[in-house]
Amino acid sequence: MTTKLRVLDDAVPPDLPHEEGHGDAPGALGTSDASAYRSSLEPRRVFVDTFGCQMNAHDSERMVGLMAAEGYAPTEDPEIADLIVLNSCSIREKAEHKLLSAAGSLKFIKEKRPDAVLAIAGCVAQQEGKSLLARAPHIDIVFGPDHIARLPELVREVQQTRRRVSETEFLSRSEFAFPRLTDASSVPVSAYVSVMKGCDKFCTFCIVPFTRGREVSRDAADILDEVQWLAARGSQEIVLLGQTVNAYGRQKRSGQVPFHELLAQVAAIPGVRRVRFTSPHPSDFTDAQILAFRDVPELCPHMHLPVQSGSDDVLARMRRGYTRAEYLAVVRRLREVAPSVSLTTDIIVGFPGETEKDFQDTLSLVEEVRFQAAFCFAYSERTGTRAVGLDGVVPFEERARRLRILLERQEQITGEWLSSMVGQRLEVLVEGPSKSDPARSTGRSGQNRPVHIDGSFLPGTMLEVEVVEAFRHSLRATPIAKTPMATSVASSSAA
Ligand code: 5AD
Ligand code: SF4
Repeated sequence: MTTKLRVLDDAVPPDLPHEEGHGDAPGALGTSDASAYRSSLEPRRVFVDTFGCQMNAHDSERMVGLMAAEGYAPTEDPEIADLIVLNSCSIREKAEHKLLSAAGSLKFIKEKRPDAVLAIAGCVAQQEGKSLLARAPHIDIVFGPDHIARLPELVREVQQTRRRVSETEFLSRSEFAFPRLTDASSVPVSAYVSVMKGCDKFCTFCIVPFTRGREVSRDAADILDEVQWLAARGSQEIVLLGQTVNAYGRQKRSGQVPFHELLAQVAAIPGVRRVRFTSPHPSDFTDAQILAFRDVPELCPHMHLPVQSGSDDVLARMRRGYTRAEYLAVVRRLREVAPSVSLTTDIIVGFPGETEKDFQDTLSLVEEVRFQAAFCFAYSERTGTRAVGLDGVVPFEERARRLRILLERQEQITGEWLSSMVGQRLEVLVEGPSKSDPARSTGRSGQNRPVHIDGSFLPGTMLEVEVVEAFRHSLRATPIAKTPMATSVASSSAA
């Protein structure tokens, strides 16, 4: 992966799949002293800096792929890049501030190299549009998530005309094409595949429906075609992505299939050894989706199932569409069907009107479910959402206090679970060398836990390992054996 990823970087704990090497990479903006001089024979270079969620990480991969087709090599150093893209996030205020400060630090690059094209993509771009161009005269392009496929064209336009452009209108269902990876040389062992975009839920705290637009599911044939392409080039794990991924196909348009059938069809593609999906919404679960954890052997025993709060009053004010009991019923059924499933979640504290009793309800839910990890956030007001203006604003210090208490408890639970893994045997798909120790390789268990394995193994190796040590968010293991490549494919037996 050549883009710099800062997935969910204001969440605590750091995002599991990218835990290692999390934080600022050496090539971060303003930290390099590399020479700006390059000969005209050298290839053009693109630097993409990713803020926010997996959706953005996936979009960034696509941007790098699109620019590779135009002859741009990826770089981790913005100072030598001909095209710099900041792929922004606006989910919380902190993420937005980070983007604005990164955008500010691009100014000196433009002063040194006026020909470099600077672009802002993602959710802040979508929200701010032209006003971002007005506020930051050194930025050339502002484009929203629907316009990723047009990046090469927009770059050429700027290079030829030196006119600055903003593209932020949402495309209609018929105009929008889900961007896919086109660069065969950068196919990852674990690949994201978008199955739907946007969100129709309008939770009152959330900016996403405004920045990503309405829910649109992709045609199943298009999804399966992309998975086939990826699997034929070495992807062994497919992560189906969507804002409310298990809402896939609920509009029942032609070309779509129920989500549980999609899971089975993806799993049946030769070369696919693991399937995951993220993030589902508790209200969109059907029993057939849950049964897929029993019936589709490739479906990994992990689910990230955002709960947001353990209080019915808060859930109602958030308009989450489920009660605490309904959430717990999904968890119970899932554990009945797949006892080894590991559950992670997102939780917000300090939502307007959240009382001490509501907060205690969240703590008791955490106690009851014993999530393997939780991304915990202090509520952050987002202009334009319905929660702004609700009564009962919780003071910032109180939000911070509740966050600390929640995190402390969750860390203990995560620690206890990780310690209980020592001595156990797991199957790990190696993704690459460990960033902190070149004598180790890093991969993930089926339960989505990062595992650092003693020894050097090629990306794509499936290993049986024994856990020898538990760290704060990851495990260390010694290899036992290589797991042979599966020859048979899963049956599409999901109900
Ligand atoms: N304030 C705090 N956290 C938020 N999230 C979304 N919007 C907000 C907000 N306004 C969190 C939710 C969501 C995760 C991606 O970010 O927990 O699941
Ligand atoms: Fe935001 Fe709610 Fe949609 Fe998730 S389901 S993206 S929290 S509006």
